[in-house]
Amino acid sequence: MSVFKPALFALPLSVLIAAPALAHSDVKNPVVMDRMMTMKAIQGSMKTLGDMAKGKIPFDAEKATAAAAAMAHDGKKVPEKFRANETDPKSEALPAIWDNFDDFVQKSEAMVAAAASVGTIGDESALGAALGKIGGTCKACHRDYRE
Ligand code: HEC
Repeated sequence: MSVFKPALFALPLSVLIAAPALAHSDVKNPVVMDRMMTMKAIQGSMKTLGDMAKGKIPFDAEKATAAAAAMAHDGKKVPEKFRANETDPKSEALPAIWDNFDDFVQKSEAMVAAAASVGTIGDESALGAALGKIGGTCKACHRDYRE
């Protein structure tokens, strides 16, 4: 039976990969698609925290802590994903990114630092604090570098 085991993992993985790609099927440039997917992953973690804060899903310390850790992890990929000055009609990235790439990297590092500094999210007040801390760093970059 062990020969069938990989199939158990193959299905959820393909669903995870296919779902966001469908929503962006009109993005032609694979580099742009790739960086958008990184942002989507970060947003997914943010949504978990936000939904808990709003009471849409129950507070779960383990899940919240994992979501913040995932954001720190995914955030580390941002500079590399945006390094190439690539565009696409669907992209919301502003050309200013590549005129100020050092600043862009700093803003990306600020997000990673905020997400990493959160540590264990043990209760709802820690959750609120984490959201504020991380959310500010998303806005700081989007304000300057996203349409
Ligand atoms: C260092 C800059 C930077 C930081 C920090 C940042 N973003 Fe972004 N984000 C961008 C840029 C630039 C785009 C536009 C990319 C494009 O369209 O090519 C973007 C796009 C997005 C998108 C749209 C992706 C899509 O599918 O088109 C979402 C959602 C998003 N960001 C969420 C977040 C969240 C949530 C955070 C904070 C946890 C965050 N971002 C932090 C720069 C940043």
